[in-house]
Amino acid sequence: MRVLSGIQSSGKLHLGNYLGAMRQHIELQEPHDCFFFIANYHSLTTVQDAKLLRQLTLDVALDYLALGLDPNKAKLFRQSDIPEVTELAWILSTVTGMGLLERATSYKDKVAKGISPSMGLFGYPLLMAADILIYRSDWVPVGKDQVQHIEMTQDMAGYFNTTFGREVLKRPEAKLNEAMIVPGVDGQKMSKSYGNAINLFDSPAETKKRIMSIKTDSTPVADPKNPETCNVFALYRLLARPDEVSALRERYLKGGMGYGEAKTMLAEVVECVLGPARQRREALVKDPSYVQDVLVTAARKARAVAQEVMEDVRDACGIVTARIPLPSGERVG
Ligand code: AMP
Ligand code: TRP
Repeated sequence: MRVLSGIQSSGKLHLGNYLGAMRQHIELQEPHDCFFFIANYHSLTTVQDAKLLRQLTLDVALDYLALGLDPNKAKLFRQSDIPEVTELAWILSTVTGMGLLERATSYKDKVAKGISPSMGLFGYPLLMAADILIYRSDWVPVGKDQVQHIEMTQDMAGYFNTTFGREVLKRPEAKLNEAMIVPGVDGQKMSKSYGNAINLFDSPAETKKRIMSIKTDSTPVADPKNPETCNVFALYRLLARPDEVSALRERYLKGGMGYGEAKTMLAEVVECVLGPARQRREALVKDPSYVQDVLVTAARKARAVAQEVMEDVRDACGIVTARIPLPSGERVG
């Protein structure tokens, strides 16, 4: 199967990104043909500071590699190294009705949060559809918040194929995992922009402090507690081994344990996952040319696929290009 997903470089990555998306990406790299990219064109809808965007783009690459993405198995690249996606986004915009985009809940949520309703923000799903369709992706592993965008992508593939009378674009499927919506410290969906995130690569002390601040109810220590409604337990069950999860569940139901102790246990399992990743990340930061090499090598492979699909797209819709060669040959990266 061809698997594709993207993560925006729009802020520090958090446990929601890892448990909702990246962990699944890393698991899929073994048996499948994986394309994972840093959606830096998408980030421009919210980050409009060149120095910051450059740094955040590199940070996503470092985070992925530190968490276990193996560049020999999966392709990890920058969206901006595949300029054809912006061309396909334009072509898709000509076959997509305004009504479809107007129904996007993510657009409405972002505007409600005060993000400027630019044309780019409104057209965000077109670029996302182009990202997916340009590699003829089968599966798109994402968190639940992105499912509507994948459904819109399916619609856009259909509009294109119907309009031009050819099955050029392949309809992808969303692939969800158990961690569909990871709660933040306040119990709402964990998000870069809600101020409720537990970041992946803060210092151990900061991470622990953040975990200790998770909102819980006021059930007294001696009383039984409901694991199903507890934010601490929700995170613990996504990170701990099944036997550890059942042990904690029993302690909740029995009573006699305070939330402070559950938080300390959560901090320990978080550190088990993030501690080794933090060390790998520190080593990678010192080797920028390795990281650059990973991104460029993958972009070259991804771009070859994108260019082939774009030939079919242009042919189907009658767009002619002269293929004027660059004076100094191809430049990727
Ligand atoms: P973003 O940071 O918006 O680019 O999201 C990157 C990936 O992380 C997407 O697949 C999201 O669905 C996923 N994601 C972000 N926040 C959460 C969350 N709180 N729970 C589950 N998945 C999430
Ligand atoms: N919109 C996605 C998010 O915010 C990021 C993204 C951009 C993406 N292009 C994509 C995800 C293509 C999957 C496939 O999480």
